[in-house]
Amino acid sequence: MQNLWYKNAIVYSLDVETFMDSDGDGVGDFPGLTQKLDYLAGLGITCLWLLPFYPSPNRDNGYDVMDYYGVDPRLGTLGDFVEFMHKARERGIRVIVDLVVNHTSIAHPWFQEARSDRNSKYRNYYVWSDNPPPADPKHIAFPDVEDSLWDYDDKAGAYYLHHFYKEQPDLNIANPAVREEICKIMGFWLELGVSGFRIDAAPFLIQGIGIPDAKPEDLEGFLIEMREFLVSRRADAILLAEANVDADQIGVYFGNGDKMQMLFSFLLNQHMFLALARQDAATLVEGLKILPDAHHTCQWLNFVRHHDELTLDRLQESEIQEIFQAFAPEENMQMWGRGVRRRLPPMLEGDRQRVELVYSLLLTLPGTPMLRYGEEIGMGDDLSLEGRGSVRTVMQWSSKANGGFSSAPADKLARPAIDRGEYGYQKLNVTSQQRDPNSILSWMERAIRTRKQYPEFGSGKWKIVATNEPSVFAHSSQQNGNTVIAIHNLSAQPRTITMKSAEDPHLLDVFSDRPYEQMDCHSNSIEISGYGYRWFQVN
Ligand code: NOJ
Repeated sequence: MQNLWYKNAIVYSLDVETFMDSDGDGVGDFPGLTQKLDYLAGLGITCLWLLPFYPSPNRDNGYDVMDYYGVDPRLGTLGDFVEFMHKARERGIRVIVDLVVNHTSIAHPWFQEARSDRNSKYRNYYVWSDNPPPADPKHIAFPDVEDSLWDYDDKAGAYYLHHFYKEQPDLNIANPAVREEICKIMGFWLELGVSGFRIDAAPFLIQGIGIPDAKPEDLEGFLIEMREFLVSRRADAILLAEANVDADQIGVYFGNGDKMQMLFSFLLNQHMFLALARQDAATLVEGLKILPDAHHTCQWLNFVRHHDELTLDRLQESEIQEIFQAFAPEENMQMWGRGVRRRLPPMLEGDRQRVELVYSLLLTLPGTPMLRYGEEIGMGDDLSLEGRGSVRTVMQWSSKANGGFSSAPADKLARPAIDRGEYGYQKLNVTSQQRDPNSILSWMERAIRTRKQYPEFGSGKWKIVATNEPSVFAHSSQQNGNTVIAIHNLSAQPRTITMKSAEDPHLLDVFSDRPYEQMDCHSNSIEISGYGYRWFQVN
């Protein structure tokens, strides 16, 4: 019997820096996070994904690592990490951590040695050129800041490759010594109890763009090596790849069940936003249908938002514009012409019914759902902050100063708190929502609890159920003889639908946006409110 725990996990992503500050220095830390584990357990979370917490000059929110074996002193100590892991395990919460090995920080000792000594063994840990080719702009990840993939380093007397900021030199994945280092890093955190890794920038890691003589089969083969190493150290550990690629490339990452167990569902996410903008179920169906079949041990990780811009780059230009028009009409809400730098509730103008609709989709679409901190309370964004900073404000725990995140003066916070308007912590926070049975937090707890009772949604065999209403998306999922059906009305108008191929008319309501009349078991017409959702168990 295989342990496929990740197929029905409830994942929660957070940045230790912005979650809870225990010592009043303005920076979130591991002891603060540890204090909040009971909150997370109460919400129903079963797996945390921690953004990078390693020592870092913080040029890219910790995605520029200078020591893979430590904890950034701002966030605590390795001892604090181990205490946190112990307490998480006591609560049945697994932890996966970011593995950022496409690049290091420029401050990493490997790069420091590599640049100062041509004969150092670290020289070949990076990719150098005396005469680099001109960059294809589509390979530059941060086009507003960088205009090249290569930067000249005076000390090294050569150009080095970097797909992201120039402070993030790319590692040379074609070098076996680098691969060994990567496995060693995984081995270290596995010994400390993590259940797996999020592989940052996976396509950049294995595409080998800029690496001379790199062979695609060899680089892709490294994903198999990583997996073999991983499970040799911990059989139930997983690799979750950040691979925002076209459908025909997905097999490169899932392999034949021998590479990554999980992939972020970028394609479905982008189609979901397009479907919401158009209020059209067929667009969502299309998003599901383009996903290739994968080995039964593979799983999608579904999400609404994460810590970056909501990227729309797998869609056509006209489709991106449709989404911009609906949810991010001002230029300041957009990023790089291909993304949205807002959180969901402001995108939906605070329409609670519609917000619930989206999270109901998240919880029922085939795959494992992931929430990002603050989504459970409907946190907003701060568009006055630069770039992706708009969605990285601190967690709002209470109406106390800084939202109860920290007792430091507001100007000492690692990142600001939202302190005004309808999304300000004075009005929107965990404590007040916990007292309110009608809050979005209370709703989320209930929704998650129900979702856990129907694992068919996560790992069952799904089918689209045809309806007579173009705005109503319906699907069923079946596993071990149990069937569930979910219907979602993407439009504001109430509908009555007929499910054309309902296998069984005996449907038991298990979760919905409002109480509905008991269904007449001889009819297969179903009522649904505007932006409504209904989950059924088929009796
Ligand atoms: C993807 C991460 O999600 C993003 O935040 C980061 O800037 C890049 N990788 C570079 O590491």
